[in-house]
Amino acid sequence: MREITLRAAPTFTKVAGLDVELLTYNGRFPGPSLRLFEGEEVRIRLVNQTGAPTNLHLHGLSIPPEVDDPRILVGDGESQDYEFQVQEGSAGTYWYHPHGHGSVGPQLFAGLAGPLIVEPRDAPASASGGEDQTLLLKDLAISEGHPSSHSDQDWLNGKEGDLVLVNGEVTPSVDVPGAGVRLRLINACNARYFRLQIDGQEMVYLGAGIGTAEKSQSVESVLLAPGERADLAVSFDAPGNYPLIAAPYDRGADMSGMAGGAAAGHHTMDARLGNKEPLVIATLVAGNGSPVELPRPAGANTFPAPAEATMHRRLVLSEDMHGDSMRFLINGRQFDPDRIEFECKSGSTEIWEVVNESDMDHPFHLHIFPFVLLSRNGKAEPVLVWRDTVNLAEGDRVEILVPFTRFTGIVMYHCHIVEHEDLGMMGLFAVR
Ligand code: C2O
Ligand code: CU
Ligand code: CU
Repeated sequence: MREITLRAAPTFTKVAGLDVELLTYNGRFPGPSLRLFEGEEVRIRLVNQTGAPTNLHLHGLSIPPEVDDPRILVGDGESQDYEFQVQEGSAGTYWYHPHGHGSVGPQLFAGLAGPLIVEPRDAPASASGGEDQTLLLKDLAISEGHPSSHSDQDWLNGKEGDLVLVNGEVTPSVDVPGAGVRLRLINACNARYFRLQIDGQEMVYLGAGIGTAEKSQSVESVLLAPGERADLAVSFDAPGNYPLIAAPYDRGADMSGMAGGAAAGHHTMDARLGNKEPLVIATLVAGNGSPVELPRPAGANTFPAPAEATMHRRLVLSEDMHGDSMRFLINGRQFDPDRIEFECKSGSTEIWEVVNESDMDHPFHLHIFPFVLLSRNGKAEPVLVWRDTVNLAEGDRVEILVPFTRFTGIVMYHCHIVEHEDLGMMGLFAVR
């Protein structure tokens, strides 16, 4: 049994040269990188010294629903053990963060997030020397020595910070000793999107963090919505500095221009969210070592066929003006911890049609059961990939294929703009 302790507590630290009191795991920002192995039994003890209730969610891991029940809070001064076995075939890139309903936005923004890597059973015991780099992307805004607090507008749009950090630093240099690297990218932001590219370099998309894709796919850029990961293999033509760039991305209408609009007077109804200018977030420094053996999707994972689905469901993401404020809904409802929305049969496979009828992007996230994106707006996906999050731009309609294997229990789905989740864009269903 591997035992890990994560102590969540306020911590004085320096970010971008500024003194700030963050919330951290084990005094580190981002939290320590947890490295687990397929098949391994693990016990993670969360010690809460934050001064408020919190809990721990292992984002993307397929573990028993009773271990991943975000409705269970850990009080200040208390601790909680999360015990599970790491699934075979789950090697990939994950992360961990708090999941207490109503407080995820402020706690995640304040620093509570860390990477979690699952290695194949036969991987070497110590991490590799540079050909495998984990980059956790996280933004922050600091005011008077603290993470800045949420405005009404932040609750609607999702909070973004002006400091865009990679592993806690502003535009760090990432050493790539050889001519290639496996990048594990994690978007741990509350609401910021990254459309990532490396100037002039081909990237090979290996997967969305859970196992490997059905086949390799060359990509020019990859979109990372909040909660998402991407595993990429990048080879460099020559030694040198390669900027990792977040290209402009429009993530929809600024909701603060709509909610309470009449009262606000001078609002702009057509303001848009997302970064408008390209932003360099890190520099990859390629050495002149010999080319390294980069991982390629090698059929390590199997994928179900759509024909196996015995049930179709529809989930509609929407927004609704309620009095003076905006509500974010799934199938017309807000989260109720005591309501089970529907039941799925254990051992069956379902197709879910998820539709975004709102004016902004929402990343749809499902716990416990990895799924496959089949199509977007009627167009079939070229390559099958196991994932736990899929982004829906305004008006998008996606079809996902979800096998309910291994576990029964109560499972959560929600928007991973965590403010929307806190406001109730979330639901529970049962697998029996
Ligand atoms: Cu990363 Cu339910 O969350
Ligand atoms: Cu999750
Ligand atoms: Cu949302």
